[in-house]
Amino acid sequence: MYDIEKIRRDFPLLHQKVNGKRNTFLDSAASAQKPQVVINKIVDIYSGKYANVHRGSYYLSEEITSEYEQSRRIVQKFINAKSEKEIVFTRNATEAINLVAFTWGRKFLTKIDEVLISEAEHHANLVPWQILRDEIGFELKIFKINDDGSFNCEEFCRHLSGKTKLVAISGMSNVLGTIFPLKDMIKSAHDVGAKVLVDGCQYVVHEPTDVQDLDCDFLAFSGHKTYGPTGIGVLYGKYELLNAMPPYQFGGDMVNVVTYQTTTFDEPPARFEAGTPAIVQAIGLGTALEYLMNLGMDNIKAHEEKITSYMHQQIADIKGFIEVGTAPNKGGVVSFAVEGIHPQDLSFILDKEGVSVRVGHHCAAPLVRRMGHESLARASLGLYNNFEDVDTFVAAVKKAKTFF
Ligand code: ALA
Repeated sequence: MYDIEKIRRDFPLLHQKVNGKRNTFLDSAASAQKPQVVINKIVDIYSGKYANVHRGSYYLSEEITSEYEQSRRIVQKFINAKSEKEIVFTRNATEAINLVAFTWGRKFLTKIDEVLISEAEHHANLVPWQILRDEIGFELKIFKINDDGSFNCEEFCRHLSGKTKLVAISGMSNVLGTIFPLKDMIKSAHDVGAKVLVDGCQYVVHEPTDVQDLDCDFLAFSGHKTYGPTGIGVLYGKYELLNAMPPYQFGGDMVNVVTYQTTTFDEPPARFEAGTPAIVQAIGLGTALEYLMNLGMDNIKAHEEKITSYMHQQIADIKGFIEVGTAPNKGGVVSFAVEGIHPQDLSFILDKEGVSVRVGHHCAAPLVRRMGHESLARASLGLYNNFEDVDTFVAAVKKAKTFF
């Protein structure tokens, strides 16, 4: 059973007052709060177990190396990768996508190729491809989504051809909440010989993720959105692809033999983890993912669907509330405008009521403009949100309307 009140007790920050009010945290799509087990793990390591990894043959270093590598196996299990060697720790999802662009992309893309992305991408899955296009000269194609934010299958397939070498798509939009039919999209992309990179930042935290079943070639996600620490992200890549990629950064821990003249490089994943990694953050991520697996991703998804559906019932009551992104298959992200109130003012008033929402272009400015706005407010749900959060949010929006 999903005991929401017990789960909420695992997150100390949810019980802090915000502006003297109950904390109604509705910004988990930007960064999620941390359960006590993750906080404890970080404190435990710094207080009693800390040393560098992969470098010492003394007790502390061996112990922490083993925890760091264990965390890699937890990530492997969380996304059901075939091998732990397919898991690269990065600084965040942005770095993971940049890694693919500037290693795999630089090596395998040529000016006669095409890279296909959707209109719904975060800047992190748009800008690297623009920069690489300017360098290499391939065509960056962008397929349209429907006006309600839903996936348009015909439009996607129309853009696929033998020239498509990479499809880079978000699994779930951070603005619209749309969950894309990844498995079918990946199959269609593979049918024309393209590789597929999934930006899984929002997806993996709301949906059970199985990279072998999806058959994606790369998957990127961040630790801080999966209830883990900041400063840690994951790149999953099929091993043969990672193994064909040159290193991204150069230095300690990613080399085999170094002489004054030349250097040979280690195998993946070490090849892509130059320098001292984010040791404690990687271990903290492992703890967070274990926490999620203990709750069960299916249970988390079912809970979030329940709260999202309640949110939809309640906002239907607010006159002038415009939800942007109403795809039938959407997760717990509600981007919105309220007629007559600037989103920034709205967010200010909500904050005074203890309600935290994000406002702006959500690092997806072209998408927000394509949906007809310059700025939106966004309420996003996490595994700990409850009916009271929705009620408080709705009451705060109604109160804000009385000021205008
Ligand atoms: N990409 C994060 C968001 O959507 C930061 O807010």
